[in-house]
Amino acid sequence: MIGASGQLGSDLLATLAGLDAVGVDHAMVDIERPAEIAAMLAHHKPSLVVNTAAYHNVERCETHAERAFAVNAVAVDSLATLCEAAEIALAHISTDYVFDGAHSIPYTESDRPAPINVYGISKYAGELALTARTERHFLFRTSGLYGVRGSSTKGYTFAERMREQARAGKPLRVVDDITCTPSYTLDVARTIRAVLETGRFGTYHVTNAGSCTWYDFAVEVLSASGIDAPIERTTSDAFPAFARRPRYSVLAHDALARAGVPLPPDWRLGLHDYLQATR
Ligand SMILES: NC(=O)c1ccc[n+]([C@@H]2O[C@H](COP(=O)([O-])OP(=O)(O)OC[C@H]3O[C@@H](n4cnc5c(N)ncnc54)[C@H](OP(=O)(O)O)[C@@H]3O)[C@@H](O)[C@H]2O)c1
Repeated sequence: MIGASGQLGSDLLATLAGLDAVGVDHAMVDIERPAEIAAMLAHHKPSLVVNTAAYHNVERCETHAERAFAVNAVAVDSLATLCEAAEIALAHISTDYVFDGAHSIPYTESDRPAPINVYGISKYAGELALTARTERHFLFRTSGLYGVRGSSTKGYTFAERMREQARAGKPLRVVDDITCTPSYTLDVARTIRAVLETGRFGTYHVTNAGSCTWYDFAVEVLSASGIDAPIERTTSDAFPAFARRPRYSVLAHDALARAGVPLPPDWRLGLHDYLQATR
């Protein structure tokens, strides 16, 4: 499993325990270097590779497009080509940001991606590389990840930041015009394992169930943490940014239902489990 020290990667590696899963982190294999991928495949001789590595800071992607494409698209192309040549299945993680956000009902796996920022475009390019290079693929799109490990690019989670700022008595202003499904990496990891075990290749949306705005999510974080602090609703315009973001990126779980895989729990349950785990 590539990206083993990341927030999803670490939960996924733990979840795949018992299946002879081996984790490799960035220091062990740089997926931008095809020779390192080839050496890893030759050494471990896996039947399946799972790639959770990405360049996913949305603002940095916008200003460093060449880095975003190198990791999210070109490296995925190399990985898929090398896996296909060795008849190894490849599972890859993508994002709700491949959609433009114009919908008002959840996006299905068959909806056409139309990304509106460099991150989304580079991840969609990675999806195209994966699906063009190998039919032996699982493509998992997920959304708003948070986990016990925390994102390696940010070093904290949104929930953690809300709790810390509220406890420090700092004012909280949170956007109420972006709707998605913040998802707990452990729930996502468990569902990914269940899909892998079906052996049914294809594209799957894997997020917690339901949807909310970041304001709703912040309210739930404080209430579930027993913190009584006001949160001011605001809109994205209040936070000038380089990258445009989809206003609505809720993902439907049609493919999971078709595969007979249990749907992940509601986002509130995922959040409560995460808060328990980080108390
Ligand atoms: N975070 C979200 O909200 C979110 C939402 C939707 C989809 N996703 C997708 O979900 C996946 C996992 O995200 P995450 O939040 O778990 O990310 P993460 O915590 O940042 O983990 C990503 C891992 O990839 C490694 N990595 C980066 N570049 C690499 C390279 N060239 N070669 C090898 N390893 C490399 C990083 O190592 P270093 O830190 O050492 O560089 C890090 O350990 C990604 O595909 C992302 O696009 C994330």
